Amino acid sequence: MLPVRLDRARAEPLPAQLAAAVRALVTDGTLGTGDRLPSSRALATDLGVSRAVVEQAYDQLLAEAWVSTRRGAGTFVASGETLPTQPSTHRPASREPQYTQLDAGTPWIDPRHLAGWRRAWREVSMARPPRGYPDPSGLPELREALAERLARTRGLTVAPDEILLTAGSTDALRQLLGALGPGNVLVEDPGYRAAVESIRMSGRVVVDHPALAPVTDLTGCAAAYVTPAHQHPLGRVMPAADRLALLAAARAAGTVVVEDDYDSEFRYDVAPVPALAALDRSQVAYVGTASKSVSPSLRLGWLVAPPEVHERLLRRRAITHDTPPWTSQRALLTLLRDGWVDKVVRTARRVYADRAPRVAAALEPHAALAGPLAGMYSTWHTSAAAARTARTSARAAGFDVRLLADYCRSAQLTGLVLGFGGVTDAELDRALEAIVSGLRGR
Ligand SMILES: Cc1ncc(COP(=O)(O)O)c(C=O)c1O
Repeated sequence: MLPVRLDRARAEPLPAQLAAAVRALVTDGTLGTGDRLPSSRALATDLGVSRAVVEQAYDQLLAEAWVSTRRGAGTFVASGETLPTQPSTHRPASREPQYTQLDAGTPWIDPRHLAGWRRAWREVSMARPPRGYPDPSGLPELREALAERLARTRGLTVAPDEILLTAGSTDALRQLLGALGPGNVLVEDPGYRAAVESIRMSGRVVVDHPALAPVTDLTGCAAAYVTPAHQHPLGRVMPAADRLALLAAARAAGTVVVEDDYDSEFRYDVAPVPALAALDRSQVAYVGTASKSVSPSLRLGWLVAPPEVHERLLRRRAITHDTPPWTSQRALLTLLRDGWVDKVVRTARRVYADRAPRVAAALEPHAALAGPLAGMYSTWHTSAAAARTARTSARAAGFDVRLLADYCRSAQLTGLVLGFGGVTDAELDRALEAIVSGLRGR
C-alpha cells in the first residue's frame, strides 16, 4: 500500500490530498516509472475512504499525465517523457468535462427548438458574403431587432444607433473600461467572477462592496458594476430606494454604472424587473447578453452606453473593428426575427419555474435560500464544511457544483451556488440526491 495519510480536518478535499500525496511520492522517488498503483478498491479500503475519492484522485493524476492506465492491468506511474516536470497545482481545463456542470451560467436550450436554429444558420450560409469591414456598431438590422426587443421585454426605449454589439458581457465591460477615465471599479461582493477578472485585466482596482448594501458613495470610482435585476449570485432584486441611491452617488461622483442585465427575463411568476438604465440613461451603461436566451457559446451581447461614452467607443471601434463576427450577428438576427428567441425564453422559463421549486424542496431542510427563486440557479447558505461535503458528494456522482465562497472576495459567505439550466431533469434529480446526501451526512 502507499505511505499516505489523509486528514479529514483539512479544508482540502480528500481526492486533492490523495493526488498531492501521490505526486510527492513520484517526485521524491518513492514511486518510480512503471510502478503499479494499488487498485482504487484496495487503496480506498486501506485509507478508510470511499472508492470515489481514490478514483477522483487517479482521474486527476491521469489528466495531469502523472499516471497512465493500461486496460485491465491497472494504473501505473507514467514514463519520464510524459511525466510533468512541475507538480500541477491547478485543474487543467481538459479535466472539467468529466463532471456534468451545475453552473449558474448554462441555460436550458430545449432540443425541440433545433430546427429553428438550423434554419438560421442555413440562412447565414446562403447570404452573400459581406464585403469589407462590418458596421462598427454592429449589423444595423440586428440593432433594430434588439431595440424592439429591449423596449418590449426590458422597458428600455433606445434607438438602434445607440446599441453596440459586443462579444458578450465581458467584452462590453472591457470595451467600456477602455473608454472611461482613470478610477477604480466598485463591484458587488460576492459578485460575477468574470467581471472581476476583466476589471483586473484592465489594470483597475476592484473595490469590494457588500452585495446587499446600498451604494451611497462612489468617490474615486470610474465605474460601478452591478446586477440589479438578479444579484449574482445572491439573487436579490435591488430595491427601488437602493437604485435611486446608486444613481445619486453615480451622478455626484461622475461614475458610470454598468448594469449587467444577464438573466432578468427568467422571472417565473412576475414580470421582469425594469432595467435600471430606464431610470437614467445618462449615467447607466446597459449590458445585455445572448448567453442565456441563445447560448453562451455564441459570444454575443449588446451595450447601450451613456451618449458621450458611446461616441468614444464608436470612434475607437471604427478604427479597431472590435465587433463580433458577422456570422453570429446574422444568425441572431434570424433567430430574433423568426421569434425563435422568444420561444426559447418561454420554454426555458417554464423549465426553470418547474425545477427551481424542486431544488428548493430538496435543499430547504438543510440550507437557507438566498434571494427569491428566479433565473437558472439558486444560492444556498450552509456552513463551509457542509458546502464542501456536498460538493464532494456531487462529484462522486459525476456533478460539479460551485461553492458560494468562490464568488466572495472580502465577504465571508459560505454555501452553494446551484445551477439547474444545463442538465436534464433526470440528471438534476441525481445531482440533488447526491448533494442532499452530502448535506445530510454532516
Ligand atoms: C452575472 C453574469 N453576467 C453575465 C453573464 C454572461 O456573460 P457573457 O455575456 O460574457 O457570456 C453571466 C453568465 O453566467 C453572468 O452570470
